[in-house]
Amino acid sequence: MGRPQALSVYDPIARLYDPWSASVIEDVSFYVDEALAADGEVVELGVGTGRIAIPTALAGVHVIGVDSSPGMLEVCSKRAREAGVAARIDLRLGDLRRPPVEERVPLVTCPFRSYLHLRDDSERLEALGAARELLLPGGRLVFDVFTPSREDIEATHGRWIEREPGIDERAEWDLTAQTLTLSVRGAASESTMTLWWIEPERWHSLLAEAGLDVLACYGWFDRRPFAAGEDSVWIARRS
Ligand SMILES: C[S@@+](CC[C@H](N)C(=O)[O-])C[C@H]1O[C@@H](n2cnc3c(N)ncnc32)[C@H](O)[C@@H]1O
Repeated sequence: MGRPQALSVYDPIARLYDPWSASVIEDVSFYVDEALAADGEVVELGVGTGRIAIPTALAGVHVIGVDSSPGMLEVCSKRAREAGVAARIDLRLGDLRRPPVEERVPLVTCPFRSYLHLRDDSERLEALGAARELLLPGGRLVFDVFTPSREDIEATHGRWIEREPGIDERAEWDLTAQTLTLSVRGAASESTMTLWWIEPERWHSLLAEAGLDVLACYGWFDRRPFAAGEDSVWIARRS
């Protein structure tokens, strides 16, 4: 018998995740368009409940989805069956730093800030290097991350805020450690997770160090160039 999988912070909230993120829709068509343009199979790292993977599969693209939370994968699998796209979504339990993927693909994605679960540059480089390894020559890695603004920190720090009906969220920011400790609670479940942010310049350097050329850094999913906002959306190519 294999070693039991450590519980992910997402497991307790796997059924809360979709209602919690119900209003996050701005990135879906962006990632679906990237998948269609890639013209091949896509690996999504941190696939979660399939918020992006299911619309991608509905658009006709095969997705290999990797996630370290069995609970999130279970929800994704159910959603895929209900949407009639189970045959186009291949879900794999594993760590995005060492994805259980032998295939080589034209596109690897890591949507909705999943790379912020990486705690330091060593983990970031491991993850970026692993994503690069999955790419065919000229293939692309597409992901988004954020760097908080002072205003956001001041507006949210230490307060429970109703994010969706019946779902509250509390952010605790540590400006020195550059961590966000995020708690979410619903009627039946709750969890707390830590996210580590870095500046966009640092992402740029890490991508170069991992052997990925930055083709674009957008400030939003409408592809406006990154200026100085909180969100950054990256398109990098295997050198
Ligand atoms: C913010 S959710 C994003 C889910 C999905 N991509 C979306 O856009 O809704 C982050 C996901 O990354 C997964 N995750 C976090 N750290 C991971 C790791 N080291 N390896 C694999 N998955 C990880 C979590 O389990 C969770 O499903």
